[in-house]
Amino acid sequence: MDKPTTTEVTSFTLNGSIAQVEPLPGERLSYALRERLDRKDVKIGCNAGDCGACTVLVDGAPVCACLMPVQQAVGRQVETLAGLVKTDHDAQALMQSFQHHQAAQCGICTPGMMISAVALLREVPQPSAAQVQDALGGVLCRCTGYRKIIDAVVGAHAADGLTVASTALGQPARRLDGQAKVDGSEAFGDDVAPAGALVARVIRAPHASAGFTFGDLEAWRSAQPGIHCILTADDVPGLNAFGVIPGFIDQPVFAVNHIRFRGEAVACVVGEAEAMIALDLESFPVRWSPQTALADTDAATAPDAPQLFEDRKGNIMCGGFVQCGDVEAALDAADVTVEAQYTTSFVEHGYIEPEAGFAQVIDGRIHVHACTQAPGMDREALAAILDRPMADIRIVPTAVGGGFGSKIDLSLQPFIALAALKTARPVRMTYARAETMQSTTKRHPAQITIKVGAKADGTLSGLRFDGDFNTGAYASWGPTVANRVPVHASGPYHIPDYRARSRAVHTHCPPAGAFRGFGVPQSAIAQETAFDLLAEKLGLDPLEFRLKNALADGVPTVCGQVFDQGVGIAPCLEALRPAWEEAKAECARFNAKNDTVKRGVGIAGAWYGCGNTSLPNPSTILAGVRPDGTVVLHQGAMDIGQGANTVIPQIFAQALGLSVEGIKILGGDTDITPDAGKTSASRQTFVSGNAALRTGEALRAQILRQVNAGPAAQIGCQDGQLTVTDGGRTQRLDLTRLPVDAQRYVLQAQESYDPPVKPLDENGQGVPYAQFGYAAHLVVVEVDIALGLCRPLRFVAAHDVGRAINPLLVEGQVQGGIAQGLGMALMEEYIPGRTENLHDYLVPTIGDVPPIETLILEVADAHGPYGAKGLGEHVLIPTAPAILNAIYHATGARVTQTPATPTRLRAALKEAGHA
Ligand code: FES
Repeated sequence: MDKPTTTEVTSFTLNGSIAQVEPLPGERLSYALRERLDRKDVKIGCNAGDCGACTVLVDGAPVCACLMPVQQAVGRQVETLAGLVKTDHDAQALMQSFQHHQAAQCGICTPGMMISAVALLREVPQPSAAQVQDALGGVLCRCTGYRKIIDAVVGAHAADGLTVASTALGQPARRLDGQAKVDGSEAFGDDVAPAGALVARVIRAPHASAGFTFGDLEAWRSAQPGIHCILTADDVPGLNAFGVIPGFIDQPVFAVNHIRFRGEAVACVVGEAEAMIALDLESFPVRWSPQTALADTDAATAPDAPQLFEDRKGNIMCGGFVQCGDVEAALDAADVTVEAQYTTSFVEHGYIEPEAGFAQVIDGRIHVHACTQAPGMDREALAAILDRPMADIRIVPTAVGGGFGSKIDLSLQPFIALAALKTARPVRMTYARAETMQSTTKRHPAQITIKVGAKADGTLSGLRFDGDFNTGAYASWGPTVANRVPVHASGPYHIPDYRARSRAVHTHCPPAGAFRGFGVPQSAIAQETAFDLLAEKLGLDPLEFRLKNALADGVPTVCGQVFDQGVGIAPCLEALRPAWEEAKAECARFNAKNDTVKRGVGIAGAWYGCGNTSLPNPSTILAGVRPDGTVVLHQGAMDIGQGANTVIPQIFAQALGLSVEGIKILGGDTDITPDAGKTSASRQTFVSGNAALRTGEALRAQILRQVNAGPAAQIGCQDGQLTVTDGGRTQRLDLTRLPVDAQRYVLQAQESYDPPVKPLDENGQGVPYAQFGYAAHLVVVEVDIALGLCRPLRFVAAHDVGRAINPLLVEGQVQGGIAQGLGMALMEEYIPGRTENLHDYLVPTIGDVPPIETLILEVADAHGPYGAKGLGEHVLIPTAPAILNAIYHATGARVTQTPATPTRLRAALKEAGHA
C-alpha cells in the first residue's frame, strides 16, 4: 500500500446501512471492511485475489475485496456473509445446506464460498454441479475436497427445513460448532485482536544462506513515526530457540549473525497499525553477505558441502532403520525383482488462513491468542523462550483455518509474546501469504530407491528401501519423519525379509516438518508403484497381488508387531473390487476408440500408525457437573477442521449416557482445559477419544452413585435437571446439597489415556503404535497424450476406520485428503523464491476434484474408543500412487517424480514410446 497522504470520507452501503470510512489512499476494500467497519466475516487468505476468501458482493456481483480499492465502492451496495444470512433467503438456505452436507470444515473459505454461491443462486436457483464449479471457481478450499460444497450449493433449497439428524455416536451428525462457520461469526487468528493493538512484522532473510549485520537500529526506529520497538535475539530473555523434539530444539527465534534459509527471522518491528502499513521495510538497516546454499540432499551430502550444524556431520540430522529377516538373501532368491528410484518435491500446506493472533499481558501473565494445533506445546516452548514458568503463560487458541501439521510448530507466537512484554500493549501479527509460504514447514522432498522381490506365485519375498528426506534448515518434525518412514515403507503387507533406511538431511531450505502423513505419502509412492511393476512382471492383477500379500490378524508387521484383531487392509481392497473390474472394462472400451486421449485405472493401499511412534502420547479430558445439573466437557483436542469438537463430545456423551445436546462444551484453553496433546498423527479420535470415553464413564459412575443406581440405569435431562432412571423409577438429582469445588463443580472426572506402545530396538523391532488404520484408493484418470495432462475422473476410497463415530465427518476427511493427494501427485511443488504465492503454487481448485465415492469399513480396533481408528493422515497416503498407477495403466508411462506436471508426464510418455 502507498504511504498515506490525505484521507477523505468514503461512503457506501454495507449490508443495507450507510457505512462511512476515512481510508488511506489506495486502501483495499477488504482492509476497510475488516479494520474500520469490524466486518470480520470477510476473511483474508492471500491479499492477491488468488484464494477468494475475501469475496463480497458489490452491486450483487462477487468480487475479491482485497483487489478492490475502497474508493471504488463509493455509492455502491456491498454485502458480506454476516449481512446476507440475516435477510437473504438464498444465504439462509445455504447456511443450512452447508451444515447438512458438511461443506465447511475449518470454515475459513466458507464466507467466500457462500457469497459466490448466493450470486449464483440469484441467477440460477437450481444450478447444476458444473454451474457451481464455474461460479465458485475463484475460491480455494484446502480442507473439503470441494465435493460437499458442490452438493451443498446444488441442494441448497432442498436443505430448507431439514431437521438436524441425531448426534448419537455412529450417526452422520452435523458439526456441533458448525453454525459459526456458516454465519460468518467464526473467529480465526486475525479476527480477535482488540482495537488499538500494536502490529508486529518480522524482518526475514531474502537469501537461502547468508551472514548478516545490523546497522543502527535505534536510529532507524526513531526516524520512523509510530514505531515503538525493534526486537532481535538480544531481546529474548530465555532460550533463543524452539523446536518440537527433545534434543533437536534448534531453530532460533531470531537468527544471530547468519541465516540458514530464505525467510528466516532476524528481527521484528512493532508499531501503531497505520504506521506499520506505511512502513518501508526495504529500508531496514541490515546488510547481507550471501553464502553457498545447499538446495537438495545431493548437494548437502557431497563431500565438500558446507555444514549447517557442526555437530551434525555430513548434514545428516538423523536416520531411521527397520530390519527383519535377510533381505539380500530374499531378493537373491526372488523369481522376480523390481528396482526403481523416485523423487518427490516440497509440498506446501496451503491452508487458507495465514498464521495470525495477538498477545497481551494481564496481571503479569502473558496471554497468547493464536491459531495453533498444539496449545500445550506452545506453552512449554514459550516458557523456555520467555524464561518464565508455564503458569505465567496462557494459550487461548482461536479457530484454526486449516493446519494439516504445520501449525503444530511455533510460528508467530514468540514474536507477539516478546513484543507484548516489551511494549506492555496488546500486539497482533498476521503473516503475509509469501511469509507463511517462505517460513513455515513443508512436506519433506524425498529421494527414494526401492527394490522389491517376489516368488513366481506372487508372494512377496523381500523389500529394500533407502530414502533421503530433505529436512531443510532446522529439525522441526524431521526426526519423526525419519523414524516413521521405515516402519511404514512396507505398506500394509506381509514382508518377512525387509530392510528400510531413512535419513533426514539438512539443506538451506525451509524446515520440513509435519504434513499429513509424516513422510509416509512419499514412501507409499515408491512402494505402491513398485508393487504394480512387480505385479505386471508376475502377470498378476494388481488388486489380486495386493490381496495375496495383505497383512491380516495374527500376521507380523515388519516391526514384528502382531495384531489379534483390527487389521483391515484386505477388506479395504476387497471393497474396491466391483469398481476395479468395472473401471478396467470401461477403460478398455474407451481406449479402443481413442488414440490421443487414454484412460486408466489405478489402485494403491495404505496404512498409518495412529499417534506418536513408540513414545508416550497422552491425552487428558475433564468433565464436571454444576450444581444446576449442567454437564460441562473440557475438551482441549484442537479442531482444525477435522471435527474433534464434534467427535470427542459424541464419544463422551455415549460413555456418559446423555445426548450431546445436553452437554456444554468448552474448547482448548490452557487455563481451563487439560492437555489433550497436539492435533497430529491421526491421534485425536483415538487417544483423546479414549480419554473422553474414560472421563464419561467415570462421571457416569459418580452420577449413578448419587442415587445408588445400577450400571444399566439411564441418565437423562429434564427441565435442565439431571435425572436417573433405574428399574422403571426416575429420580431427579438434587445436586445443590453437594459441596462445590474450585472449578464450581459438584461432581468432576478427569481421565487420561496413553496408547500402549513399546520402544523399537536397534532393528526397529517393537510396538511402534497401538493401532493402525487402513485404506485403499482407486482412481480413473484420463491422459491427454499430446499435452501431457492427467485429469482424474473418479475416485473410490475404501477406509477402515474401526468404528465411524460420525460418518459425515469421515467422508469429509476422505474427500479433503484425496484433494491434497491429487495436488501432491499432479501439481504442487514448492520452490523457494519461485512459488511463494497461491498463484504460482498450484493447489487443486473446485474444477480439479472429480466425484469421490467413500466406502467406510469398520474393522474394530482393540484399543480404539468403541473400536474407532484415526483417519486424518490415511486419507492422503494412497492417492498419489493410485494416480501414478492409473497413468501407467492408461499410457504405459511411468512417472517417477512428483508432481507429474505436464512437462514430466510428456517426458515419461515419450520414453514409453508415445510421439
Ligand atoms: Fe475450506 Fe477449510 S473448509 S479451507
